[in-house]
Amino acid sequence: MTSESSQPGAAQPAEDLRPSGPFRLGDRVQLTGPKGRMHTVTLREHGELHTHHGVLKHEAIVGQPDGSVLTNSGGHEYLALRPLLRDFVMSMPRGAAIVYPKDAAQILAQADIFPGATVVEAGVGSGALSLWLLRAIGPAGRLVSFERREEFAEVAQANVETFFGEYPETWSVRVGDLAVELPEALAPASVDRVVLDMLAPWECLDVVADALTPGGVVICYVATATQLSRVAEYLRGTGLFTEPESSETMVRGWHVEGLAVRPDHRMVAHTGFLITARRLAPGAVPPDVRKRALKKPSYADSDVEVWTPGAVGDREITDKNLRKRVREAQRAVDGARIAAQGAAADEAGGDGDVD
Ligand SMILES: C[S@@+](CC[C@H](N)C(=O)[O-])C[C@H]1O[C@@H](n2cnc3c(N)ncnc32)[C@H](O)[C@@H]1O
Repeated sequence: MTSESSQPGAAQPAEDLRPSGPFRLGDRVQLTGPKGRMHTVTLREHGELHTHHGVLKHEAIVGQPDGSVLTNSGGHEYLALRPLLRDFVMSMPRGAAIVYPKDAAQILAQADIFPGATVVEAGVGSGALSLWLLRAIGPAGRLVSFERREEFAEVAQANVETFFGEYPETWSVRVGDLAVELPEALAPASVDRVVLDMLAPWECLDVVADALTPGGVVICYVATATQLSRVAEYLRGTGLFTEPESSETMVRGWHVEGLAVRPDHRMVAHTGFLITARRLAPGAVPPDVRKRALKKPSYADSDVEVWTPGAVGDREITDKNLRKRVREAQRAVDGARIAAQGAAADEAGGDGDVD
């Protein structure tokens, strides 16, 4: 850090882009004013925020600690905070649907994204997940992102640069289909982690298997259960991955105020599913995979015959057991009928005997 950079308001050299310390020129600031109205500004020399409540000069914000309250020309107060990454991704321009922070957090954990990792990501979409990945790999890592549509890549690159204040040296974006571009971009077995957020990830799993280092992790984020099933069966079918693990993440906010402590009435109920597997060493075949493959027909077989209770994970009942259940049910209904007849006879003043 140069001595100039530590001065509030001084221009920021690349290494001083940490989102902390007093506000500096060039910082994005979230201002919450009267009635909770939010404005996001980038601090500039002679910049001003004009609202019908008055004017707030940027120079009044520069040099103040993050979390300060400032008063504008009309006497109205504004709370000034640097937006967190989750605030930024939820409000940045979108080309394609983004990965929400709740899923991004799970992706970082389940895919075990670590500082210094070499990570492949596709597609880039609006760059929301790229931002989380770039932060997690740190300055020693490398993120190579692939996107089929050039306009989406442009939106993502602009978003990433806006957030970090510069284009990260650790990031490269390639426009094209991952299935075609990945083998050209990276050597076999050289990638630690692969994160796929696209419509048909199974189309890319062969090149992903080649690119991943043994023990490396692939994680796919998919919106529907049918995609989830297809990815799982494809991963198993390659014989190159561990048994896939699937999950979804539900985050329910709570209203906590005095005695009114309860879940929020509304929540984001569904975004997508995550499915994770690890690349096996060349030639390795875990014993349980072979057994499972013999036992369970797959959705990919798509034959009416495969839709048995066993295939969908229900316990199948044997004919003998079924006959036993029929006899039990018959005995129960006979008992109920006898009891009902007895009650009717009692009501009619009889002695309760029944035939
Ligand atoms: C839902 S968006 C990704 C959103 C992104 N993860 C984010 O958080 O902003 C899916 C993207 O995948 C891209 N895509 C789909 N198939 C692809 C492929 N085979 N190779 C590269 N990009 C692909 C699409 O063009 C689209 O932009």
